[in-house]
Amino acid sequence: MTNILIWGVGGRLGRTVLSCIDASENTKASGGVDKFADPADFNIPIFKGVSDINVKPDVIIDFSRADAIYDMLPYAKENHIPVVLCTTGHTPIHLDYIREMSRDIAIFKASNMSLGVNLLIDLVKRATNVLGDKFDIELLEYHHNIKVDSPSGTAITIADAINKEMNNTLNYKHGRNDSNARRDKRELGIHAVRGGTVVGKHEVLFLGNDEIITIKHEASSKAVFAEGAIKAGIFLAGVKKNGMYDMADLLS
Ligand SMILES: NC(=O)c1ccc[n+]([C@@H]2O[C@H](COP(=O)([O-])OP(=O)(O)OC[C@H]3O[C@@H](n4cnc5c(N)ncnc54)[C@H](O)[C@@H]3O)[C@@H](O)[C@H]2O)c1
Repeated sequence: MTNILIWGVGGRLGRTVLSCIDASENTKASGGVDKFADPADFNIPIFKGVSDINVKPDVIIDFSRADAIYDMLPYAKENHIPVVLCTTGHTPIHLDYIREMSRDIAIFKASNMSLGVNLLIDLVKRATNVLGDKFDIELLEYHHNIKVDSPSGTAITIADAINKEMNNTLNYKHGRNDSNARRDKRELGIHAVRGGTVVGKHEVLFLGNDEIITIKHEASSKAVFAEGAIKAGIFLAGVKKNGMYDMADLLS
């Protein structure tokens, strides 16, 4: 049995994780942390901040806000609890801090917990190897109208994977509203669409002479991410070494 503390339990993903944990025989929710959630809405202990936490989970799953790391990671370090960071929108300063803390705790970080998206990244890398020099590459991402960060963390992960295959020679072009020039060969266009209730859709276009290849993933339920995060939590609770982990570690 893996005991899980959910950071951001009152949010859309936090609540989905809680219901997926409840539906599984191998996991138990020890409690939830949320600055703004009403404890009366939950049947597990809810803590407003680290000083209130009085449970000892095996792992933390985080779907809150990027700057929550400054409370969460010191708490995790002090109590030797591994952390699955699913929140997106971390700045380079946040990322440095996360890497530094991973010397003392095991941290799993993935901007997208879905198995399908991670397969998409593999396929996109392969397509980039074959087509990258001849085709233009553009990336579109679609999310619901209350998402706060853009482009999505997943779009950045996909763009970085493409760029790595191209020896980091591409320049990211976010939207095209500020230019009056032809597309540069070394551009990688990234476009964020926001609206409705879209859970998450990512589309990579390889545009060539008279042909377009599209590689696309669409999540139709948040449970896809919650289930992936729980799998990562079970995996991380079992690892013995501190450091950074990602989907490649889980899939292998
Ligand atoms: N990795 C993935 O696969 C994946 C998938 C979907 C969403 N996300 C990311 O997860 C995050 C949460 O998404 P959401 O749609 O559930 O957002 P949300 O706004 O519905 O929920 C966030 C919750 O965190 C709480 N919160 C805010 N600051 C906090 C803090 N400092 N400490 C504790 N709780 C705090 C809020 O009260 C809220 O209940 C976002 O960054 C989103 O991009 C990641």
